[in-house]
Amino acid sequence: MKVFNYTFDRRPCRVTIGDGVLRMAGSTISRCRRGGKVLVVSDSNVAPLYADPVCRSLREAGLECRLAVVPAGEDSKSSERLAELYDELADMRLGRDGFLVAVGGGVVGDLTGFAAATWLRGVDFVICPTSVMAVVDASIGGKTGINHHTGKNLIGAFHQPVEVLIDPTCLRTLERRDLQAGLAESIKHALIEDEGFVSWHEAQREPILGCHPQTMGELIARNVAIKAKIVTQDAREQSGIRARLNFGHTIGHAIEASCGYRLRHGECVAFGMVAASRISQVLGLLSEEQHERVEALIRSFGLAVPVGEMTSYETLSSYIAGDKKVAASRVRWVLLSGIGRSVIRDDVDEAVVRDAIALTHAPRSPWTC
Ligand SMILES: NC(=O)c1ccc[n+]([C@@H]2O[C@H](COP(=O)([O-])OP(=O)(O)OC[C@H]3O[C@@H](n4cnc5c(N)ncnc54)[C@H](O)[C@@H]3O)[C@@H](O)[C@H]2O)c1
Ligand SMILES: [Zn+2]
Repeated sequence: MKVFNYTFDRRPCRVTIGDGVLRMAGSTISRCRRGGKVLVVSDSNVAPLYADPVCRSLREAGLECRLAVVPAGEDSKSSERLAELYDELADMRLGRDGFLVAVGGGVVGDLTGFAAATWLRGVDFVICPTSVMAVVDASIGGKTGINHHTGKNLIGAFHQPVEVLIDPTCLRTLERRDLQAGLAESIKHALIEDEGFVSWHEAQREPILGCHPQTMGELIARNVAIKAKIVTQDAREQSGIRARLNFGHTIGHAIEASCGYRLRHGECVAFGMVAASRISQVLGLLSEEQHERVEALIRSFGLAVPVGEMTSYETLSSYIAGDKKVAASRVRWVLLSGIGRSVIRDDVDEAVVRDAIALTHAPRSPWTC
């Protein structure tokens, strides 16, 4: 069992990683609170697998617990599902001493966190992340929110969880495609921050893809440490430090939007990372050899990603221009200035971006829009 204590945005957050932590959720959480009501939120895939042990353990610890299950999938990050959670909270009269617990992937975490951020102007929440995307990325950093019909994550709040309980064995039931997509964010953390972690991914590819518990435990701990280090320095995305986490996301978000969110976020980010690495190489920030290493690593995890006209510059450029990271109409690119080092540049020529996207084109990818 590994326990990390952080302070994000002046709020303490404890992260516990270990086999069986979900079965001990009640005793872990009740160490710092007595009594109170809890709404556990999960989705239709995860609830039958992992929500029951969490609820049972909360009840055994003397907490009054109710379970809300939303349909699995991105569509649940909606105002309709949020309103249902508010109805549930009102019905159980959950007060300021109550809290919410998310059991699931990034969708459940973002939705539950936003409900917690806004119910009674903010109650505590706990995340029990069960997907790779959620354990390595979404559950650390306090970004919560839902989607608007005009775009993803447009409605949200910064609200830090008080506890994050991660059981690496949960990852074994993930679909392979979700496992691989989540790993894109792990590779991203390594590429922007830690060359040793890049080599570790190269060496541990098989146990990672096989979801070996010890390997996944180490992968999670190293990701949590990298994300926490960055978030601690810039909890509300103000100083620019946190912007480095957007490596691969400018083109990644454009692909996601252009194909109507039918591809996994991580698949799109993986394509975006290869293209951003190529831009870095063209600008002289990376050698050809270093770029090839980045591309080989990403593709070795089955993340060669999408095909067809949606990866053309013409299709993506309008989405890139509308990206949230565009400051004063210049696109702010997160690029690599070495393996494990990142830099932000706003002076990248459109022609360089067009060529990088063309070169990243992956005709053998099995996934199309
Ligand atoms: N808040 C943040 O900082 C942050 C960061 C990254 C991503 N996100 C958000 O996270 C979401 C993507 O996360 P995701 O990939 O976890 O999506 P998800 O929550 O939809 O999970 C993916 C699929 O895996 C299933 N699943 C989850 N855990 C499982 C398990 N252990 N066994 C079997 N099935 C399981 C889910 O039911 C779902 O079908 C997006 O909405 C994205 O915007 C948020
Ligand atoms: Zn991401």
